[in-house]
Amino acid sequence: MAAAWGRCVSRAWLCRTAWQGCGRNYRAALCTELKRPLVIEEVSPRPVQPHEVRVNVHFCGINFADILACRGQYQERRQLPFTPGMEFSGMVLETGTDVSVVKEGDRVIGLPGFGGMAEECIIDHKNLWQIPEKVSLREAAALPVSYGTAIFALEHRACTQPGETVLVTAAAGATGLAVIDVATNILQAKVIAAAGSDEKCQLAMQRGAQSSVNYSRGSLKEAVGKLVGAGGVNVVIDMVGGDVFLEALRSLAYEGRIVVVGFTGGTIASVPANLLLLKNITAMGLYWSRYRHQNFPIFSRRLSSALQYCQEGHIQPYIGEVFKLEEVNDAFLRVTQRKSTGKVLLSLK
Ligand SMILES: NC(=O)c1ccc[n+]([C@@H]2O[C@H](COP(=O)([O-])OP(=O)(O)OC[C@H]3O[C@@H](n4cnc5c(N)ncnc54)[C@H](OP(=O)(O)O)[C@@H]3O)[C@@H](O)[C@H]2O)c1
Repeated sequence: MAAAWGRCVSRAWLCRTAWQGCGRNYRAALCTELKRPLVIEEVSPRPVQPHEVRVNVHFCGINFADILACRGQYQERRQLPFTPGMEFSGMVLETGTDVSVVKEGDRVIGLPGFGGMAEECIIDHKNLWQIPEKVSLREAAALPVSYGTAIFALEHRACTQPGETVLVTAAAGATGLAVIDVATNILQAKVIAAAGSDEKCQLAMQRGAQSSVNYSRGSLKEAVGKLVGAGGVNVVIDMVGGDVFLEALRSLAYEGRIVVVGFTGGTIASVPANLLLLKNITAMGLYWSRYRHQNFPIFSRRLSSALQYCQEGHIQPYIGEVFKLEEVNDAFLRVTQRKSTGKVLLSLK
């Protein structure tokens, strides 16, 4: 049933005649062909299943993973056509008969996997979290992926301790600024921000980093060495890969930990195992959304923590730019051309 309704996309009139009473059509961004610009189309609503919730989407976060999925380069493949968008905030419009955790009018964040870049999204109730009252819908949309990843990388994987030094690469990006926020304001660690321009370094410092390195100007290892001396840094959170990853690895202290989070630079480096041995270093990976399937209670708890930290004013997501739905291709370009800072959002209102 669900698949049949899904095929109503771009044939909205067919659906309208097939099933009345579901509500008005809504607009969605669609990937109809890989590596081509997204198109905005009118979509017919389908009925909610007993375990599902229909949400009026207000903001949708744009993630590197959405862009990779639309190129066919993401680890999880989608069948065409599909609507990207893995995180959103919005208000509950309708609940299925088995849903009791949320009700009409509730403010929620949702992690649908895909489908968020639309005015409406139908989602399993298990993938919704209530937004606390002091957190705006705009802020809430910027939290799940970036802060979920930052918290898992720093706390769960690297076990960052108060007073330790954390080196973060792509520091002015969405994940980078979330790492700075969580490391400094929740974990009381010191952060060295590494980024590709002086402006980005400046932003990272304004957002809490103690020092910064512009890695487009020379060796990251040498610059970090000048800041921390021969001892090195305790933790690295790397989003870039390639040579930046290797230089960051070489900047680690005795018993340092490096967490592989992304490869925005496009190159996956190999780890020289002798470096791990010489300084008792640990290299580890993080695939945040995997915890949703492997250990949902921890996944959910940490997402709730991010919402709670924000509610209490301990963390504050940095939103670099907000685009309208019809500007989605410009928003994608801003990210891929390395021009964005912090979280980029789509506004559906
Ligand atoms: N493993 C996980 O669970 C997980 C979760 C979230 C995100 N990620 C990954 O983490 C990475 C960062 O995500 P994000 O949301 O923080 O992205 P973002 O906000 O777009 O930031 C990416 C940054 O990467 C740097 N970069 C270096 N080389 C680049 C290139 N060739 N093209 C584009 N950017 C380049 C840029 O900063 P500079 O100019 O300063 O170098 C850019 O600002 C992505 O690879 C994403 O898929 C992984």
